[in-house]
Amino acid sequence: MSTRLVVLISGNGSNLQAILDAIYYKMLDAQVVGVISNRKDAYGLARAAKVKVPTRYLPLAPYTADGRGREAYDADLAAAVREFKPDFVVLAGWMHILSPAFLDHFGYRVINLHPALPGQFPGAHAIADAYAAFQRGEIKQTGVMVHLVPDAAVDAGPIIASEEVRIDPRDPLESLTSRIHNVEHKLLIQALRRLIQGDE
Ligand code: GRF
Repeated sequence: MSTRLVVLISGNGSNLQAILDAIYYKMLDAQVVGVISNRKDAYGLARAAKVKVPTRYLPLAPYTADGRGREAYDADLAAAVREFKPDFVVLAGWMHILSPAFLDHFGYRVINLHPALPGQFPGAHAIADAYAAFQRGEIKQTGVMVHLVPDAAVDAGPIIASEEVRIDPRDPLESLTSRIHNVEHKLLIQALRRLIQGDE
């Protein structure tokens, strides 16, 4: 049986697509058994549906509106993920920080992708933050990392793979962004192969 992946998304889902493609082309011995989004209009949901992967939409807003709060959301999210019986949970553009109410169900089996090098620019604006730091002469390069998520620290945890991305002074932010996304699509698959197949 191939490794079961549940992928959590919030948007475009190009990294989900990279996983689906790698599986289709037999570059990755895995199956995506479920995709969950916190946003209804996330294009990644359509990408999953197209290849008949079951999807769920689970928004946080009702939990904050009626006072149940984040912990209850994370617990329900964990229950939804567990229904798919995953070996690994992949955060591929998932824009919520997960608390122990979620993470404690999946010790060392949650993987996050982040568009910055280890220890640099955590948070939702990593690419723009790195670009601004470059303009100020503080860094020469940025990068991408894939790491395990053992606790609620933001964009931190044991590194599975990372790769530097050079910043060209003539680079507009858009082209740096698209180069980083290209590296993400490749590095995420490399990291999953490393975890699943023990590839170096
Ligand atoms: C990626 O840059 C990911 O690292 C970040 O959000 C983006 C998601 O892109 N956290 P996509 O939805 O996979 O296209």
